[in-house]
Amino acid sequence: MEQVCAGFRAAFPGGDAPRVCRAPGRINLIGEHTDYNGLPVLPMTVDRDIVLAFRERPDGMIHLRNTDSAFPEVSFANAATLTPSAPGSWDNYCKAAVAALNRAFGCDPRRGMDVLVASDLPVAAGLASSSALVVACALAYLAVQDRDLDGNGDRLRLAELLADAEHFVGTRGGGMDQAVILCGQADHACKIDFHPLRIEPAPLLPNHVVVVCDSTVKAEKGGAARNRYNAGPRLCGVIRALVEKQLQEEIDEDVALERLGDLFHGALCLTVREARALCANAVPEPRVSLAAVAKRLGLRPDEARARWLDDLPEPPEGFPLQAMLRHQLTEYERVERARDALLAEDAEELGRLMNASHESCARDYGVSCPELDRLVDIARKAGALGARLTGAGFGGATVNLVPADRVERFMDAVAREYYRGFPKRQGPPPMFVARAVNGAGMGTIPRPAGA
Ligand code: GLA
Repeated sequence: MEQVCAGFRAAFPGGDAPRVCRAPGRINLIGEHTDYNGLPVLPMTVDRDIVLAFRERPDGMIHLRNTDSAFPEVSFANAATLTPSAPGSWDNYCKAAVAALNRAFGCDPRRGMDVLVASDLPVAAGLASSSALVVACALAYLAVQDRDLDGNGDRLRLAELLADAEHFVGTRGGGMDQAVILCGQADHACKIDFHPLRIEPAPLLPNHVVVVCDSTVKAEKGGAARNRYNAGPRLCGVIRALVEKQLQEEIDEDVALERLGDLFHGALCLTVREARALCANAVPEPRVSLAAVAKRLGLRPDEARARWLDDLPEPPEGFPLQAMLRHQLTEYERVERARDALLAEDAEELGRLMNASHESCARDYGVSCPELDRLVDIARKAGALGARLTGAGFGGATVNLVPADRVERFMDAVAREYYRGFPKRQGPPPMFVARAVNGAGMGTIPRPAGA
């Protein structure tokens, strides 16, 4: 905290002492690529965070600096309506937060701020550093507007707002990251349901730890991984429409299915078995061409493309919609069972579910990569009860459930097998035991001495 404040004073001399806020990163224990379909997830915060030192400016300018020289100094003029900077430009994360708060909370764009960003959260490692930055910028901006977050209701509202706000940067993510970053609880995972957003803390397992291992394959959601990520929400738009059509025919009613998650609550409240039967009829073939989708929905192919797919290329053998839908349904069940396993302190069961989730992410949803598969394999042999990719995938980190008394052996084995040849100048192998901390807020979290 002193360090970031001293850095701030050097970067922005004069004026009042800065204030400080923080937002932690997150890992997801289970429930991958389901949030944008309104299906539940089970993430937790981690004790690595983004810290902002900031001070109000009366001239409406927003100046951003970063202690990491990979992120050059940027500025923009605050305004009621903001337009995104070039893709990949890091001020977009701040703009996303400020634009949303101006619009939804009536914040005054004549107020600006000077901000210094410091972080020990690795970038592009699947630990939600971009959402942490959006949330931290939102908290700083609310503070310069003299607004506080009162109570849980405000946090939920802000989480929903910022989930939409982040679409400003071009990724079409769901609401998991912002929700857990804002509403996470120390020593707990969060079972999150959407529409409306609900958070149920579940205590982490006694005598077990979660180890995060970075595959070191960069998955920059603001960059190259963006199109691969967006293919999920796009194709799920098509799947939703096909399931809706089938539902209307089967129950002979003009019912709307806003998202796949609506199958399980509200007016429909299907059982998993009923949903499975419906989905099997909705997508009876493994691969589906755009032409077949359009025909089934009574559209022209170009209309179907414009509605859901944008410029997503069509593979010659068609889109693998059946496997993608299977992932959604099986992952839904796994999340519910994983929450129960946490409550029942059943580590073996949670581990099995995590392993099955990785297989489903890799084979059915296609969001793994050879390095993640290898890392997961090594981790299981090294004693993890469960090992899986976490976050968007395509690289980034894995999460590993390990009995606390075996963690040293586990990390040694992973270091030997996966990180052999990892350049020594880059420091120790990039893995750590994750501790769940409270959600984002003003001030910093005191660190244990020497940490
Ligand atoms: C990213 C998105 C989340 C979620 C995960 C995959 O982290 O920001 O909303 O979709 O990928 O589970």
